[in-house]
Amino acid sequence: MTEAASAPVAVITGGTRGIGLAVARRLAAAGYDLLLTYRDDAAAAETARAGLVGTGRRVETLQADIATADGAGATIEAAMQRLGRFDVLVNNAGITRDTLLMRMSEDDWDSVMTTNLKGAFLCSKAAVRPMLRQRSGRIINITSVVGLVGNAGQANYAAAKAGLVGFTKSLAKEVGSRGITVNAVAPGFIATRMTDNLPSDIKEALLKQTPLGRFGTPEDVAGAVAFLASPDAAFVTGHVLTVDGGLFMV
Ligand code: NAI
Repeated sequence: MTEAASAPVAVITGGTRGIGLAVARRLAAAGYDLLLTYRDDAAAAETARAGLVGTGRRVETLQADIATADGAGATIEAAMQRLGRFDVLVNNAGITRDTLLMRMSEDDWDSVMTTNLKGAFLCSKAAVRPMLRQRSGRIINITSVVGLVGNAGQANYAAAKAGLVGFTKSLAKEVGSRGITVNAVAPGFIATRMTDNLPSDIKEALLKQTPLGRFGTPEDVAGAVAFLASPDAAFVTGHVLTVDGGLFMV
């Protein structure tokens, strides 16, 4: 087996932009080969792949809807088939459909729950199979501080992200004895396309309440994910690591 073929492999859902792409860069620098999934932005996926070529790592992209069992299954299968092994799953793909409860449609609720919570369930279920066989693996779920403290206008998103916390802790208890850790990272306000559209008065208010006095970057989140994937976190499981500049101290 060549050196490149034996590198550890990480799958990052929604890994072609925003926080997912920063995680990809960070894990590539740590020596991981990567499978990055995306839902529909093929141009962003190609730009992401091209940008990672210089790292010398193998980088594959896959269009897959992780909110379906077929898409989640195809994601894990693609890692095994194209990259030969599978070590780390980062459940990062997520969407928002923000509005007050009285205006929230059933579709607003269902689509956020299906992508943000069921998607992580489906990908983890597909991932645990090879991880149990090899008796090792890391699953890292990207939740949100909103799932810990709530947020007006985000009942669907907060419920899904809170669900992800319970999911993380339950799965950590189920698979810990097989050498698999399951943790979550809870970012605060991170400057990405997802948060671009927030009204400026809300951004100002958030900034004022943040002890570290700035918004987070995708790289801030990527550092936490890289830690949880690393040997330094071998004895950490069922943990929710908040990365929010001190905005919410829970
Ligand atoms: P983004 O909108 O830039 O990226 C989201 C990614 O998820 C995209 O690549 C998109 O293609 C993918 N995706 C969405 N639905 C999908 C599906 N059904 N199947 C496959 N891929 C799908 O968002 P951002 O900001 O990078 O967020 C990444 C994660 O971090 C999300 O889970 C988000 O909820 C979470 N987060 C973000 C915060 C922020 O301030 N930006 C704060 C807290 C959490």
